[in-house]
Amino acid sequence: MIFNCELKKTVDDSYDIEIGHSLSDKLVDDLCGGLCGKASRFAVITDDNVLEPYALPILLKMTERGLKADIFTIPAGEKSKTREMKAFLEDEMLAKGLRRDCAVVAVGGGVVTDLSGFVAGTFGRGVPFVNYATTLLSAADASVGGKTAVDTPLATNLIGLFNQPKKVYIDIDTWKTLPKRELSSGLAETIKHGCLGDRELFEYLEKNIEKVFEFDTEVNEYISQHNCAVKYNVVMQDERESGLREILNLGHTVGRAVETVSDYRLLHGEAVSIGIMAQAHLGKGFGFMTEDEVLRVKALLERAKLPTEIPDYIDRDVLADKLYTDKKVRNGRLRFVFEKGIGQMVRFDNDNYGKEISREQIAAILDEM
Ligand SMILES: NC(=O)c1ccc[n+]([C@@H]2O[C@H](COP(=O)([O-])OP(=O)(O)OC[C@H]3O[C@@H](n4cnc5c(N)ncnc54)[C@H](O)[C@@H]3O)[C@@H](O)[C@H]2O)c1
Repeated sequence: MIFNCELKKTVDDSYDIEIGHSLSDKLVDDLCGGLCGKASRFAVITDDNVLEPYALPILLKMTERGLKADIFTIPAGEKSKTREMKAFLEDEMLAKGLRRDCAVVAVGGGVVTDLSGFVAGTFGRGVPFVNYATTLLSAADASVGGKTAVDTPLATNLIGLFNQPKKVYIDIDTWKTLPKRELSSGLAETIKHGCLGDRELFEYLEKNIEKVFEFDTEVNEYISQHNCAVKYNVVMQDERESGLREILNLGHTVGRAVETVSDYRLLHGEAVSIGIMAQAHLGKGFGFMTEDEVLRVKALLERAKLPTEIPDYIDRDVLADKLYTDKKVRNGRLRFVFEKGIGQMVRFDNDNYGKEISREQIAAILDEM
């Protein structure tokens, strides 16, 4: 006997991304106004660098306005994005008495937003969450799009959920306290967006990239808006990466592997920068990019103070092996997405943007780099 449990549903996961300066009052207004539905308690999750300058002031404003909130802090850095840290947060939240009627407020960079979104997705079988992004990288990429995850010893981001936040706040003023190296890391994802879908953004960066380090308001607002527009044009068409969304992985097949093999000595954006160059060199061989276009991408990454070659301490064979742990490997075969010149992607057929690459093809490029 078969019972059919008919559970077809239409879900509206739409949400706003607010880009601006010092948005903590706005966040608290929204929470008081019911942004997270009936949530009666809040878990503010942050890391120990972001705690004092941004998360504690937010917590204070929340409690002053009568919201019941507790703060949960993780050690800063990629090594905190683990299943163990997720369990630690969950246990701490449970110990504080938080249950299904809570909501999560993530305040920090991509590590905090990726981990918090995953915690929120499974805590009490799912509670609402919001992201308050405090790095350029999370503003450009990590805090928007609904991908949440943790790393494992094998590779980055292998375990996670698609889980959309109730709202994302991009507070450009917080970039002023970011170390320069972290700003560069965020620029890698910004340059990636120019390469894959926004030639105007790429050319704007060619004219203005140094101004990002000078905290030029107009430039930072421009890149924030363009980053969101590029990402959302893609995510709105393919939320769960069944086709088009794959293009957002430009540079990430090699990038993720370099990041893991470096044991996180390379920041995410630094690793992505190397990955973008590996893709460009490979793509030039297939005729997808000209030598001139490859050099333009390299020059822009270098002006953003990003590495474009693989550090000597990374063993090329270990790196080539690591490529095969990527989520995008299908039937044991590597898949790459490629730029078509600058500002477009190569589309192979229908909705297929991935191309199978042999170990020999990529190993030759890694040896050259
Ligand atoms: N979910 C996605 O779609 C997506 C996309 C891209 C990247 N990511 C993930 O994002 C992560 C990288 O993000 P990230 O670079 O923001 O990492 P991060 O959260 O580790 O932040 C970088 C560093 O800056 C510090 N910091 C944060 N805000 C600060 C501020 N305003 N002033 C001073 N210091 C500050 C942090 O404590 C940390 O040391 C990676 O785990 C990557 O996998 C996710």
